[in-house]
Amino acid sequence: MTPEEFRTAGHALIDWIADHRARVEELPVRSRVGPGEISGELKAGPPQVGEPIEALLEDLERVVVPGLTQTQSPNFYGWFPSNGSLASVLGDVASGGLAGLGATWQSAPALTELEEVVCAWLQELTGLPESWRGTLQDTSSTGCLVALLAARERASDYAQETGGLQAEPAPLMVYTSPHAHASVFKAALLAGFGRDNLRLIDVDPVTYAMDPEALRTAMAADAAAGRRPAAVVVNLGTTGTTAFDPLSSIVPVAAEHGAWIHIDAAMAGSALLLPECRWMIEGLEGADSLSWNPHKWLGTILDCSLLYLRRPEQVIRVMATDPSYLRSSVDGTVTQFRDWGIPLGRRFRALKLWFHLRLDGLDAIRARLRRDLENTAWLAEHIARTPRWRVLAPVRLQTICLRHEPTGTVTADGTVLDPVALDAHTLRWLEAVNASGRAFLTPSVLDDRWMVRISLGAEGTERRHVEELWNLIRRSAEEDDVPLRPERPGP
Ligand SMILES: Cc1ncc(COP(=O)(O)O)c(C=O)c1O
Repeated sequence: MTPEEFRTAGHALIDWIADHRARVEELPVRSRVGPGEISGELKAGPPQVGEPIEALLEDLERVVVPGLTQTQSPNFYGWFPSNGSLASVLGDVASGGLAGLGATWQSAPALTELEEVVCAWLQELTGLPESWRGTLQDTSSTGCLVALLAARERASDYAQETGGLQAEPAPLMVYTSPHAHASVFKAALLAGFGRDNLRLIDVDPVTYAMDPEALRTAMAADAAAGRRPAAVVVNLGTTGTTAFDPLSSIVPVAAEHGAWIHIDAAMAGSALLLPECRWMIEGLEGADSLSWNPHKWLGTILDCSLLYLRRPEQVIRVMATDPSYLRSSVDGTVTQFRDWGIPLGRRFRALKLWFHLRLDGLDAIRARLRRDLENTAWLAEHIARTPRWRVLAPVRLQTICLRHEPTGTVTADGTVLDPVALDAHTLRWLEAVNASGRAFLTPSVLDDRWMVRISLGAEGTERRHVEELWNLIRRSAEEDDVPLRPERPGP
């Protein structure tokens, strides 16, 4: 493809994307395709002779769009927001167009230095300590793995340089909440700690936040038994209920054992742009690393995850490589981001964040986050004051955990009388909502019972959408009064 051919095809593609976004609200939110349907449609092999862009756009429209759950729809309330602001999409296009190779500073100085600049912007905008430094990772899963690898090495006095974990005389321990995201457990296992050495600390039964006294007891017991506390993963905004582990109480407990503190704020980090939400990082100075995802609520298109480090040299010592073919005369005076994480080659990921912040501007971004908090408070209040509806966890940001309780299933004080009927009802009315195509919500298990999460924050969600959602879920749940057994046995 020549640059002139690219120009023509690119204009057509951008027009198509703009049209798609303009009508995304009209599409069914949950994809209706079945397994294998998409691949079945695309079975023909690649053409011998190049096709016109129109043929591809037609397939995007006909085959690909129906095969997506429309996360950019204002009626998307599933998992967590996965916003892809159009400003950031342009940055991603620029990144692909420039096709820089981020392997060393020398291979693309702008790629490194723009990443340093946007990370520093967000560091200041979110009130992180000035002395910390940030880098971009693909996801929070990777950020957590990088942090736990560094924690493992610090706790083992850099055992990777000798016999590694296999030569360690006593197990290294990791602590987190049972409500941590699955990626935290995965990172601990991938980092070689072993499931037996992963302690899930009790949480408060009302707030679902980690109990710092239980953490103190567990760490002390391990230390007394000769095991070595290596890391605590603190969850600021858990996936299930948006619970906040009490960072400022956890920091001194972990410090007694010299354990690394990694903070997973994948979702909630966006709220740090609002000064009124900074309560969540009180005590941060005593932590070692924090990760959050602009690719969630903030709206920088996937993949874009920030990892901030108190002492980057502790990660660099674990991650650095120095092959002769990557050396240059500026080594030692510049940042080499390849040493701050796992991959060598980096994409120009910072561009999409830069475009997003510059084209949309902070005022609009902050106004949108505050709009979502207000809409969430409005909806939570309506749910809480409506008979037979219950809000199941404190609403700290933009996610509501709720349940509708048909007659005879739950007492007024919340004691569940008929768990099977209650779970069946929850899953059934939720499925009716999702099958309607008019909204998409995800279920989750809390205290052994199915519940429904409404996670507000899609870029286009205005109050009218939230009002429509409330009417829709009320109708769906209140019309469903014939208890059946759930398709899947209980949680
Ligand atoms: C609290 C929390 N941590 C980590 C993750 C993993 O994020 P990523 O997809 O960037 O790995 C998620 C994803 O939703 C999350 O909610």
